[in-house]
Amino acid sequence: MLIFTKIKSLQQEIKSLKDGTTIGFVPTMGALHEGHLSLVENAKKENDIVVVSIFVNPTQFDNTDDLINYPKTIEKDLSLLKSFNCDIVFTPTPEEIYADNIKSESFDFDGLEFQMEGKFRAGHFNGVGTIVERLFEIVKPHKAYFGEKDFQQIQIIRKMAEKKNLPVQIISCPIHREKDGLAMSSRNTRLTEVQRAAASFIYETLKKAKIQFGTKNASDVLKWVENEFKNHPLFTLEYFEIADEETLLPVKTKNPTKKYRAFIAVFAGKVRLIDNIRL
Ligand code: PAJ
Repeated sequence: MLIFTKIKSLQQEIKSLKDGTTIGFVPTMGALHEGHLSLVENAKKENDIVVVSIFVNPTQFDNTDDLINYPKTIEKDLSLLKSFNCDIVFTPTPEEIYADNIKSESFDFDGLEFQMEGKFRAGHFNGVGTIVERLFEIVKPHKAYFGEKDFQQIQIIRKMAEKKNLPVQIISCPIHREKDGLAMSSRNTRLTEVQRAAASFIYETLKKAKIQFGTKNASDVLKWVENEFKNHPLFTLEYFEIADEETLLPVKTKNPTKKYRAFIAVFAGKVRLIDNIRL
């Protein structure tokens, strides 16, 4: 497994590949878990070589505390990637990516950026768009792999690729969960033992909301979820939304030809967790 910290040396390696070599790319912020590794496995199956980037991108954090406390486990990440036969890892510094201008570009994602995560994390998707476009430029992948855990992020990146005509196929991969149903996340390691033991409540609530959406309208399901969290001693609901998968707009009246998904963001103390479920 080759490890590069410099753009130039990574690009030299990529240029030296035989013509026609297909590149699968998995961008990450590290602190890898099985969710990330499932993306690597999919990329392995469908491409000649796999490149994984590990870069905690400062421009997508709206909260300095969250950026500072974001878990960093680089040695463990590298040995996991090696054991999964990853070919190339790219671990640049912020200076290598941004030089002395750690700033986001401004994107128009046709309104996708104003829903859910976009409402609650100012500038987040401009940061994501900036780094993902930059990484695509550097790695020049044929296919790039993203997890449905961050469903809105996938739709945003698809939109960017479509609008900018980027020569990359965006592949979405299912959410990996812990045995009790909690969606795997790098941030889960920041939960206290008590919070972690109770955290399956989030997915349990999503599953119950899915059943209710079969017979009830969206606003009743919303009210029910809000009530479930109202008196919870450990978790505070930031938002629960039932939205159209394509437009991410909240559903008003159900249309049988549309696909819907329920999205949730919850605080456990200072740790913010998100999840979603297909309805
Ligand atoms: P990060 O949170 O490290 O996630 C990297 C990729 O792993 C994302 O595509 C994310 O959706 C996926 N992922 C995370 N948890 C998952 C799970 N439980 N099951 C399946 N896939 C999961 O998302 C980012 O980093 C950043 O925004 C990034 C795209 C790297 C840009 O900085």
